[in-house]
Amino acid sequence: MAGSSEQAIVRSELRWAVVVGAVVAVIFAATIFAAVAMHMTPPGSVETIDPATLHLGEFAEANLGTRVSGDGQVIVRIVATQFAFVPRCVVVPVGQPVSLRVSSPDVIHGLLVMGTNVNTMVVPGYVSQVRTVFSQTGDHLMPCHEFCGLGHSQMMGEVRVVKAQDFRPGADGRASCADR
Ligand code: CUA
Repeated sequence: MAGSSEQAIVRSELRWAVVVGAVVAVIFAATIFAAVAMHMTPPGSVETIDPATLHLGEFAEANLGTRVSGDGQVIVRIVATQFAFVPRCVVVPVGQPVSLRVSSPDVIHGLLVMGTNVNTMVVPGYVSQVRTVFSQTGDHLMPCHEFCGLGHSQMMGEVRVVKAQDFRPGADGRASCADR
């Protein structure tokens, strides 16, 4: 009697092992499919930057905000710092690929652009890059969503999405909310 109930337990365990193995195989296959066929992958590169000299390089004050580079790429650079986004407002064209590059000189911040898929943490020492296409014109609120200190709840930016004909960068390729 004791032997047959033990066999039943072993058979049951084996059945469940097969079920668990099948579930893992399905999840693994879905992950591979998403990566290969749908290009949904975790960030592929880790870009580091020295937070102590953030204001001297790419994220120097004069370099912040929206800029259209020579090959037509729209790149937005933002510094997330206690307790503001610099610049507070950025302007981007609707329906075009936009790269947001954000870094922090002090503590961990986060940002999301409401009504869009933009949502990232901003960790000192790293550059957070998000590529997106904004599909709706209008002012989108961009709150900090990572508790960063007493002023966290006041840390708020804005992304102004405008029609292509209203997006007119200057001769230097720069566009700002103050232009319109
Ligand atoms: Cu920055 Cu919360």
